[in-house]
Order: sequence, then C-alpha cells, then structure tokens
Amino acid sequence: MKIDFATARPEAADVLAFIVTKSSFETFEFPLEKAQMVRDTAKLARFKGDAGQSFLLINEEGGKLVRIVLLGVAEGDAGDYQKAGGDIVAKVQTSGAKHIAIHGANLSAKAAAEVAYGATLRNWRMDKYRTKLAETSKPTVHGLTVVGAPAEAADLWTSYKAIADGVALTKELVTEPANIIYPESFVERCQHLADLGVEITVLDVPAMEKLGMGALLGVGQGSRRPSRMLIMKWDGTGGMQERPVALVGKGVTFDTGGISIKPAAGMEDMKWDMGGAGAVAGTMKALAGRKAKAYVIGVCGLVENMPDGNAQRPGDIVTSMSGQTIEVLNTDAEGRLVLCDALHWTQENYNPEYIVDLATLTGAIIVSLGSEYAGLFSNSDELADKLTAAGKASGDPLWRFPLSKAYDKMIDSPIADMKNIGGKGAGSITAAQFLGRFIKDGVKWAHLDIAGTVWADKAGPVWDKGATGFGVRLLDRFVADNFES
Ligand code: BES
Ligand code: MN
Ligand code: ZN
Repeated sequence: MKIDFATARPEAADVLAFIVTKSSFETFEFPLEKAQMVRDTAKLARFKGDAGQSFLLINEEGGKLVRIVLLGVAEGDAGDYQKAGGDIVAKVQTSGAKHIAIHGANLSAKAAAEVAYGATLRNWRMDKYRTKLAETSKPTVHGLTVVGAPAEAADLWTSYKAIADGVALTKELVTEPANIIYPESFVERCQHLADLGVEITVLDVPAMEKLGMGALLGVGQGSRRPSRMLIMKWDGTGGMQERPVALVGKGVTFDTGGISIKPAAGMEDMKWDMGGAGAVAGTMKALAGRKAKAYVIGVCGLVENMPDGNAQRPGDIVTSMSGQTIEVLNTDAEGRLVLCDALHWTQENYNPEYIVDLATLTGAIIVSLGSEYAGLFSNSDELADKLTAAGKASGDPLWRFPLSKAYDKMIDSPIADMKNIGGKGAGSITAAQFLGRFIKDGVKWAHLDIAGTVWADKAGPVWDKGATGFGVRLLDRFVADNFES
C-alpha cells in the first residue's frame, strides 16, 4: 500500500475516511455532496464520535459509489490515531476498494502521520503460501492518501515509515515457519540491513566454540541447523555516544523442548520462539531506516532446540562463556541458556551502559499477564521507568515484576553453579534471576518476557491475528526518548 500526502482528494479514491471527536462530530463540515445525510445516517446507527467507534456506509460522491468511513478518536490522544488508521484498513482491505483518502484538514501533522502509520502496520499480511486464495479474500487496497494535512506530516511520515518497515521485518521473521527460518536463514533475511548502514557480524559454531559458549551451543547441538549469533551495529552519533544501548534477543527458531519434549498439541506455536530476536532485528531496521542519532547494538542468539541422538540430556552440565556452570535439568528451559551467553558476550565486547533482552521465555508470563502486557524485570528503577514510559507511549505495554535474592536461591544447584529451572512457583521470575546472574556489576539491565505478546489469536489495533511485531515500537521509542535528544 503506497502512502502519500496531498492537498486534494485523488480522483481514484473510493474510500473517504473522516476522523472526528465526540465534540467535533455534530458540527463537522464533511466535504461531501450529501454531508447532512451522512451525518444523519451515522447518528441513526448510534455513531457519536466516541473513541474507538466506527461507521461505514456506501454512498454516491462525484458520480460514483464510494465507501465513507467515520472514526471516532479521543481528544488529543496520539495512540488513537494509529488505531483509527488500523481500523480503516481492517474495514476495507479486502472489500474491493482500491484507494483510501483520509481527510487530514482537521488533524495535526503528527496525528495525520500516525493515521498513515497505523494503516500501514495493520495492512501487513503474509499471503505468499496461499496459492488458492479466493479473489474476494485478496487485499484490494493499493494506495492511501492523506488529504489536506499540515505540510510537516509528510516529513514526519518518513520516520514512521521506517518504523513500520522494522515492524514488518519482525512480523515476517515471526510468521515464517521453522523450515524456512532457521539460524542461517534468519541471518540471511537480515543482511539487507547493511544497505541502511547497519554493520553486520555473524558468529558461526566454531567461533562460538572458541569463545566457550557452552550454554548456547548445548541447546543447538541436537539440531541439523547450525547455531549462529547475529550482531548488528548502528551508530548514528558519529562516535559521540561512548557506550551503546544493547538489545539482545532470544532466537530459538523452533523449540520442540528438546529431550524434555513438549506435548504435540500447539507445538507449532514454537516457530515464533524467535520473537525476541525478531524484535531486535526489526528495531535495528527501524533505527537505521530513520537514521536515529543513537548508538545501538542488536544481538540475536539463534538456535534450534531439537531432540536427537546428539541433543543434550536432562542433567547435563554445561559451562557458559562467563565460566559459570549450569545443570540443565530441563532441556525445554533453553531460552535462558541461549541468552546467558549472548548477554555475556555483548557485555564483554561492547561495554553497554544499558542492556535490554527480549525473549519468549516462559509460559508462566502468559498465566500472569495474558497477551495484554509483556513482563518487565530490571536491576535499575531508572531503566524500568524509561521502558515502562516507552511502552505506554508506543502501544507495546510493560508490567514490572520483582527480582530478589529470595527468588535467586531457587536456582542454586547441588552440583553446579546453578540449575536452569526453579521450583514450583514464580517461573517467570526465576528465569529472570537466572539471566541476572550474567549481568556485570553496574550495567543497567532489563529483561522483557514477551511470550504472551508476540503472537495474537485475534486481530489487534495495528495487527491482524498472528504476529504482532511486539517490541519494535517500544524499543524505537525507548531509544528516541532517551538517547537522541
Ligand atoms: N519458549 C518457551 C516458552 C513459551 C511457552 C513461549 C509458550 C510461548 C508460549 C520456553 O522455552 C519454555 O519452554 N519454557 C518453559 C520453562 C520451564 C521448562 C521451566 C515453560 O515456560 O514451560
Ligand atoms: Mn522451551
Ligand atoms: Zn523456548
């Protein structure tokens, strides 16, 4: 869908969308031939311009039938405009309509750009594996024009577009099945970030063996697909920011559980166990795409967790790159094994001031938070507050959980430095405590457990059911608000 900003409604427009508030609706001057009739019909259908309300009718305009869509938003709430854009697309994406015109004269430049952004995000879908999609189920909308918005809207849009491109990459990586996206092909799919100025480094198995990454490699050793570590560097400061922000993602391209194998029902969901790595890659694309004035390192630990004659066994003891030993009591608690080496390596090589990891780490976080919030764990109130604020502002919300010595005891092992599972309760917290043991003194660290938010059973404001792209909008905002001013 091509987005543009114009001063006049394009001839081809066959969807005319208007965004109103409760207080503006009654007196809003619709630039339509049958303005009064449209208003009356909307009122008859109980449309009042309340936030989140929408209304669609088909009517004659300029000698042809067009769709007219009304959306209600709250006064002055930026998030609503993204949702409004998403709602418009959801209503007409496969309707047969071809070109959306959004009335922008009553919108601020930011609101206008956000409508286009929400529409673009919501428009993403993957149809490449559907060879028999019915004509009536295919997307028909090819263009969207925002008409009459303040001139700065088009400038703002270039940044929003970059973020939307990042979110799209994340959704693509998350949606692809595990026979298509595995550690090597994940890396391949990210190589195009080099064209945006991202410096890419890849560690293969021999390189990681040399570094002593026994924890990460132990997870991958049962797979025919060799493990990889992908490092993406974006420095938009010309060396002015001394220590980077580091983002580290769990990239288990398929999680069978290994020898501690998962039940068959629903196992297909574990193709998106690389959602943390997907979010890191998408964020790097967004930051580079909009030339963010910040220094950010993205690291993805990429492995496939399979049962096999060469797979690791419950009870195996592995030595992590940090030197700490881990008793692997459950091969399905593999994410923390991947992350601990990725986190250690990142600190050794980049000395980040802040390090944020993202992982579909525990089923327990879904029990706690469902799919509305991701879990946040941090050793720094300052970092936790910054991330929480970015989450609220971006639409990827976070809820903080505790860390403490009392929970930390639960992962002590009688034979090694730690075990990779805790006790009966607090599964998300003991997983976070495990990661915390690999964070150096003085480094501000946060762990985001995104197991509940990467994949949606039903459509949301800016995603269809399936991959949500969770994390990209959040991290982009976190960087924009704290490192670019
Ligand atoms: N990838 C899973 C967590 C997960 C579960 C993500 C459901 C998304 C949906 C993770 O590797 C895992 O298997 N965790 C175990 C840990 C347990 C063995 C301590 C879990 O949560 O059951
Ligand atoms: Mn697992
Ligand atoms: Zn997993």
